[in-house]
Amino acid sequence: MDYIQVKNNVFLINTKNTSYIFRVNKYKHLEHIHYGDRVLIGDADALSFKKTIPHGTTVNYDKNNNIYTLDSLPQEYSSYGTGDFNEASIEIGKEGSYTCDFRFASFEIKKGSKKIKTLPSSYGASQTLIVRLKDSVNGLSLDLYYSVYPNEDTISRRAVLKNSGTSEVVLHKMMSYCIDFIENDLSLLALYGAWDKEAHVSETDINRGTLTLGSRVGFSSAKNNPAFIIKKKGTREDSGRAWGFNLVYSGNHYSSVSKNEYGLHRIQSGISFERFHKRLLPNEVFETPEAVMTFSDCGLNKLSQNFHKFINNHIVRSDWKNKERPVLINSWEGFGFDIDKSKLLALAKTAASLGIELFVLDDGWFGRRNSDKAGLGDYDCNLSKIPGGLSSLSAQIHKLGMKFGVWVEPEAISIDSNLYAQHPEFALMEKGRPLFLGRNELLMDLSNPEVKDYIVENVSKLIDENHVDYIKWDMNRMMNGVSGEYNHDYIKGLYEVLDRIFTPRPWVLLESCASGGNRFDLGMLCYSPQIWASDNTDPIDRIDIQKGLSYFYPLSCIGAHVSAVPHSQSIRITPLETRFNVSAYGCLGYELDLNKLSSQERSSIKKQIAFYKKYRKTFQYGDFYRIDDENNYDAFEVSGPDIIYTKFRKSLGSVPEFDKVYVKNIYNDKVYQLSERSSLRKYVSSGAALKEGLCLDPLYLGTGINKRVRCPLDYGSDMFIIKKK
Ligand code: DGJ
Repeated sequence: MDYIQVKNNVFLINTKNTSYIFRVNKYKHLEHIHYGDRVLIGDADALSFKKTIPHGTTVNYDKNNNIYTLDSLPQEYSSYGTGDFNEASIEIGKEGSYTCDFRFASFEIKKGSKKIKTLPSSYGASQTLIVRLKDSVNGLSLDLYYSVYPNEDTISRRAVLKNSGTSEVVLHKMMSYCIDFIENDLSLLALYGAWDKEAHVSETDINRGTLTLGSRVGFSSAKNNPAFIIKKKGTREDSGRAWGFNLVYSGNHYSSVSKNEYGLHRIQSGISFERFHKRLLPNEVFETPEAVMTFSDCGLNKLSQNFHKFINNHIVRSDWKNKERPVLINSWEGFGFDIDKSKLLALAKTAASLGIELFVLDDGWFGRRNSDKAGLGDYDCNLSKIPGGLSSLSAQIHKLGMKFGVWVEPEAISIDSNLYAQHPEFALMEKGRPLFLGRNELLMDLSNPEVKDYIVENVSKLIDENHVDYIKWDMNRMMNGVSGEYNHDYIKGLYEVLDRIFTPRPWVLLESCASGGNRFDLGMLCYSPQIWASDNTDPIDRIDIQKGLSYFYPLSCIGAHVSAVPHSQSIRITPLETRFNVSAYGCLGYELDLNKLSSQERSSIKKQIAFYKKYRKTFQYGDFYRIDDENNYDAFEVSGPDIIYTKFRKSLGSVPEFDKVYVKNIYNDKVYQLSERSSLRKYVSSGAALKEGLCLDPLYLGTGINKRVRCPLDYGSDMFIIKKK
């Protein structure tokens, strides 16, 4: 089947429900025409922006044509110097000139995806279109790649620049893609945040001017995730038009969304170009990261589901692709650095008895790592804490029927470490400047081949010698004082190291982490099937974090743990059932000292784990729906063979209003039973009524109590299992 059609200089890319159109115009520029619902190639004229008279104060491309100006032409990729005064997608300097004019030369359509040589990228596309553009004055060629994922309604884009000339050029900026829309009333939905407050949704109207998102801290960061959505105002979870964008990249990034005086919206993303000056010698090539985009005409839930399927099918790899993630116990929140073998084994024994499948030994197990002030870089086990070393601990954990996982932070080095004493040059520092520490550590210089070898050798040895099934790869320091191209080289170094360690060991489950969710991006997901979403394990805060992430990332990738109360991040006390109900919408784990709990709490946890395992496929891989906010509630639904629907209450005022369940993915004419997970309460209803809103039993009003009255708590939640009768 051909998803890419070409006729009369018009290019049409179809997915199951969307079409993307552009054409080569008479000046050989690429004119963007449409991205949205399915249309025909013959619709290009009807959909294109008509221009028959000149705009005032413009620069004309052709001295004999005062109508054609690039300033108002919707484009596929834009440059500076030939009349376009909107933000350019590419900036190249050569002998004092910044003008570029990339014009169509040829195209090719290939089966499948085309791998990026220097960066990770998606795989398994149906077809890839490569459009070749040339700037003959500068001797540059620019290839634009479009890969099609029809079933996931996703298209990826990227660009490759080659210096085909005879002298050096300097690349200052190169975006992965540009799209110029003509649409009205758009807003930008993006994720902003900080440590402990990742992935909060913010929505901003797109008015005249430019909105930018980005990171300059060295990793993709919780400040702004690289993912965002452009939506028609009024678009909700289940209605309206929306376009989603993301970048397969983990370093400093930049996106801009602007609206010019003609109503043209320009959207582009790529590597951050701050302090970016990349020399390109003749024949040298620069590849941008891949960007991915999707469109939905029926609301944000569908848009998110497209991204979820795309990531599960075309980003995540290794033996863990589409495989259920194990329930884990992690030592960090329970013990911190204060670990010893007997405590760890006591925790492991209880964990195994409750049905936990993976034991993760977090920070504190190596070198002088008794606090965050020392030890990073030395990966020899601290035998006074763990006599017999990791291999003996690992054997004992395996004997309990659990898998064994270990925490590492290989990108960082402590000044107080043997590695720093031997190789201070491994650390990233600036000559003549004081040491700028973050969490008392420095980063390693991942552009240095010796550093990469050191990390690869040590982490590989750790895995192989100790029968390690899972690695938590942490990173806790921002990067400062470097150029844009250094940050890019560092990220390429990181990808190389991850590739060398984990590609030959596809059975190892890698969970990446950057002080929580500071590097939650598609670049990391190419190596780590799951990512620790946040150090904040308070479920009430987590609802916002996991909800924000769910716009772009599937639940199978989101690490979510039940922790002890009062939560160390908020001093809030929340019900154990709510802690589970939130963590179940992700890769479930426990991060507390199970032996400090009452036997009643342990028995609740045992039931939670059994329940989660029963519905795990649905939780991790089902269709996920956010239910539009109502009455101080958030609600999540996942549907597979059964539906699990949960309402989360942030606080309960006196005289609560009615309480309804609105189920999304359901057949109107079938009858369903809705049963509450932690009570005996049951309701029977048609699918139609569940869609319209099944009214639950009343909430406690302060006037009395009977069997039907529900007595929820602040921060309470109700999880329902909905089955066809
Ligand atoms: C930061 C991580 O986000 C935590 O989960 C934990 O692993 C600590 N580092 C350990 O130092």
